[in-house]
Amino acid sequence: MIIYKSDAEIEMMKKSSQIVARILSELKEMIRPGLETRELDSYAETRARELSAVPAFKGYRGYPASLCVSINEEIVHGIPSGRRLQEGDIVSLDFGVVYEGFYGDAALTVPVGQVSELALRLIAVAEKSFYRGLEELKEGNRLSDVSAAIQQEVEKAGFSVIRAFVGHGIGRSLHEEPQLPNFGLPGHGPRLKRGLTLAIEPMIAAGHWEVEVLDDGWTAITRDRSLAAHFEHTVALTGNGVEILSLDSLEVEGLKAGRTANA
Ligand code: CO
Repeated sequence: MIIYKSDAEIEMMKKSSQIVARILSELKEMIRPGLETRELDSYAETRARELSAVPAFKGYRGYPASLCVSINEEIVHGIPSGRRLQEGDIVSLDFGVVYEGFYGDAALTVPVGQVSELALRLIAVAEKSFYRGLEELKEGNRLSDVSAAIQQEVEKAGFSVIRAFVGHGIGRSLHEEPQLPNFGLPGHGPRLKRGLTLAIEPMIAAGHWEVEVLDDGWTAITRDRSLAAHFEHTVALTGNGVEILSLDSLEVEGLKAGRTANA
């Protein structure tokens, strides 16, 4: 069952999502060669608690950290460790919190120093596919219209959409109905209506979409070891159209100036 949210509940979700946005922006600024990924995790956890929020992932189905840090061919759910970021890596940061009973969830992929043209293009396409999917999030459309738009944008660029993980409803739980695949044919699934709150999260690969999970039980990588990128926001469909709840205020200024968040 999909749990539709009132305007007041969406405002609450915006608070949680804004905490996530701010912490992700701060983490992005910390990214440099030599940084241990667990330093990002402890920063995220400390900041969340400073802002009176609780990290959403720690302990979720036994996940051992607050932040997911996924490097290069790692797609999602990378566990922070003593591994150091290296010049040329791309690193995906996925973070969520619960604040006053509501969840916020967002992710982005960041270059470490100078990276390849391919890596930059992959990151840009992940972000662009999110925005393309978002354009279809309007009353009267169906859920799979969002999925299909994301897939089309990704495949147009010659990349592939990861099938094994999906976006999701979000609210008083981290994962609510509906599931939102990043691929599929348009015209299927529930009709979109006001009050729908989703974490839209395209995960894409430069090569094939097949995944493997490492022996740690969490880290998902591309089977062909091609680079992967992830981009996620918590969004709401309101009476005034769509709102990105987890957009950092600095990013908002950038969008007004006609730039996208990574440009
Ligand atoms: Co999510």
